[in-house]
Amino acid sequence: MKLLKNRKPFDLCSSNLGTRFCICKIIWALVGLILIFHVHSIIIYKSNTNSKVSVSVTIGDKELKVVEEEPMFMLPPRRKHSPHAVKRIGGRVKKHQHQHPTVIDEFLDESSKLRPFFFPDRRPPNDTLYYYPGERWVDTDGNLIQAHGGGVLVVENTYYWYGENKDGRTYHAHSKSLARVDIIGVNCYSSNDLRTWKNEGVVLPAEKTNQTHDLYTLNVLERPKVIFNDETSQYVMWMHIDNANYTKASIGVAVSEKPTGPFKYLYSKRPNGFDSRDMTIFKDDNGLGYLIYSSDGNNDLRITLLTNDYLDVTTVMRKTLVGRRREAPAVFKHQNTYYMITSGCSGWAPNRAMAHAADSMLGPWETLGNPCVGGNLMFRMTTFFSQGTFVVPLPGVSDSFVFMADRWNPADLKDSRYVWLPLTVGGLPDAPLEYDFAFPLWSRITIYWHKKWKLPNQTQL
Ligand SMILES: *[C@@H]1O[C@H](CO)[C@@H](O)[C@H](O)[C@H]1NC(C)=O
Ligand SMILES: *[C@@H]1O[C@H](CO)[C@@H](O)[C@H](O)[C@H]1NC(C)=O
Ligand SMILES: *[C@@H]1O[C@H](CO)[C@@H](O)[C@H](O)[C@H]1NC(C)=O
Ligand SMILES: *[C@@H]1O[C@H](CO)[C@@H](O)[C@H](O)[C@H]1NC(C)=O
Repeated sequence: MKLLKNRKPFDLCSSNLGTRFCICKIIWALVGLILIFHVHSIIIYKSNTNSKVSVSVTIGDKELKVVEEEPMFMLPPRRKHSPHAVKRIGGRVKKHQHQHPTVIDEFLDESSKLRPFFFPDRRPPNDTLYYYPGERWVDTDGNLIQAHGGGVLVVENTYYWYGENKDGRTYHAHSKSLARVDIIGVNCYSSNDLRTWKNEGVVLPAEKTNQTHDLYTLNVLERPKVIFNDETSQYVMWMHIDNANYTKASIGVAVSEKPTGPFKYLYSKRPNGFDSRDMTIFKDDNGLGYLIYSSDGNNDLRITLLTNDYLDVTTVMRKTLVGRRREAPAVFKHQNTYYMITSGCSGWAPNRAMAHAADSMLGPWETLGNPCVGGNLMFRMTTFFSQGTFVVPLPGVSDSFVFMADRWNPADLKDSRYVWLPLTVGGLPDAPLEYDFAFPLWSRITIYWHKKWKLPNQTQL
């Protein structure tokens, strides 16, 4: 809920001044982080991993509102960047972005002592009630869920989770390129509680022989999302289609008569002629569909209205978050306001999420700040060591959503983890953000860290 009704659109960071201001903030944030971690590596800090602090925030009696703190962990001292970490970042990222805080190096280095902290080796918990963000997660057959960069579609009494099947070998196509896995296809899982998932198989498979086909195994298929078209009664999938060098930068479209496929691949294109990498689609209450994509070399986001059948883009288009270099957009709507969570661009390395809000899907979009709460500073500055991909509304629970994110594991992409956490709109205002103005004009978006949490009962479809 907004406090003011008739306000002027004011996007702090869309002007040149704002951009410089943002870069400044980022630099200061990085400097702050590096200092903090140097201090922490000097202090001998016997971190007792069980000494977790839970601060219960009581609004109603929902378990969603518990904020969990994580102890700060001590980093082994390093003189320079780990060669493993630099290799993991790859050539897709500009040079200056290699200067990550040390903890990101640790995250990216598979030989790091902190490795088990980010990617616990344990067997998946035998539990069908609780979420364990960052732990291994298996389907009803006991296999690791392969649905990365995914999204969820609700059809009557069933949730469908679509995502990338990355169950292959991780390798580098060139010495400077990002770690990759060949295209296997888009997987679909079904569930009626959003927690236990049945594998529905590969609903859009890779093309194994035809080298000129977009879905040829050596190309790239990322971030598939599916919406239902009421007019044509078709399930329409949009995805990021690219070559191994990420120079094709296109969207791909596929359709199916059933949510569980098979999907028929139609074509790829650059929407309205602009390059498109990370993307998502959004179906509004009034049936209008939108494509939201990182464009102009990932400098800007573009938002384009889809045609009525959702199979193409129209020329109705806006550029937003100009020069801000945001990717991984995840869009949702709450009480006539549109919200978006984005990440920065740093390859597989995690970075700080930002929430944005708008009165119209086409903008203007305003930036609210970092929505992450709990964990510790490093958790909050790295989106809990993950990157958002989708936000699922919870039927029957007002103001609450599930934030879906990927904890990418560039050393072994098929073992990338899922970080699903409760997201709430409004409610308790958090302490002022460290480096950002908390715009009072929009409801606050909060993503709460939990090691273990469950949905309230009424979420069952
Ligand atoms: C998981 O727990 C259930 C009941 O608690 C039990 O029946 C089942 O055997 C367990 N599965 C594994 C793999 O431990
Ligand atoms: C290979 O794929 C391209 C692009 O989809 C298509 O035009 C061509 O007909 C295909 N070739 C064969 C032999 O199927
Ligand atoms: C990708 O880049 C490498 C090195 O820059 C080049 O050798 C290769 O031909 C490129 N491949 C494509 C598909 O563009
Ligand atoms: C929620 O469900 C669990 C088990 O399904 C049950 O034990 C519990 O009483 C339920 N809680 C509420 C508030 O309905």
